Amino acid sequence: MSIPDDIFTEPDPVDPDTFANLGPLRRLAGIWEGAVGKDINPKADGPEHRVFSERIELQPIDPQTNGPQLLYGLRYHTHINAPDEENTFHDQIGYWLWEPATGLIMQTLAIPRGQVALASGHAGTDDRRIVVEATRGKTGYGICSTDFLEQAFRTDSYRLEIEFHDDGSWSYTEDTILMVHGQSEPFVHNDSNRLTKIAEPDLNPWLKIVRKK
Ligand code: HEM
Repeated sequence: MSIPDDIFTEPDPVDPDTFANLGPLRRLAGIWEGAVGKDINPKADGPEHRVFSERIELQPIDPQTNGPQLLYGLRYHTHINAPDEENTFHDQIGYWLWEPATGLIMQTLAIPRGQVALASGHAGTDDRRIVVEATRGKTGYGICSTDFLEQAFRTDSYRLEIEFHDDGSWSYTEDTILMVHGQSEPFVHNDSNRLTKIAEPDLNPWLKIVRKK
């Protein structure tokens, strides 16, 4: 990709209303629940299939600039429990980002097993499907893991596909490809769920200040 000659000057003015500039990500804003989650994860005696319930909060953040690059986005927290298990089954935080000028979508992921990723894709404002991907070893849209995971459960790629439905709900399916130590074939760690809105999103902080004036 080519970068502009001037990498310092920020866009001006910037619209403080994040929700109005979120493109396809506007359909993700809010608080969501889904109880029909399905997980396939690696265990010593083979793939383990589990069901789970999930709560995701996705809240608008203020517009962000990298010099001339303008991004609008959401901060998210995913919390997942499996039935009959008190301890968290999966936890994840990060940002969803949208660059209106190019249609670039990014998802950052941080998982408390010592793993982070930056996944990317492209979409149009009214698209009903979003796909983002990250690949281990890429400096741009890659995956970084703790030394133990690198050797025992090497994560080679991550792909998330989201579909928005007519009733306002959305569903996802995600494939995390793992090379498990001692196994010759890659393991497809798959997760899917359908989410229904339980609360509307907040206004982003800057917009709250603007609206109070
Ligand atoms: C809904 C989403 C997800 C759920 C419910 C989930 C759940 C699980 C579970 C239950 C295990 C087995 C843990 C164990 O045996 O101790 C596991 C393993 C693993 N997951 Fe996920 N996971 C999800 C998404 C992800 C994502 C997005 C990544 C990375 C991009 C990831 C990376 C891993 C890795 C590397 C392991 C192997 C480590 C191990 O088994 O100890 N997971 N996951």
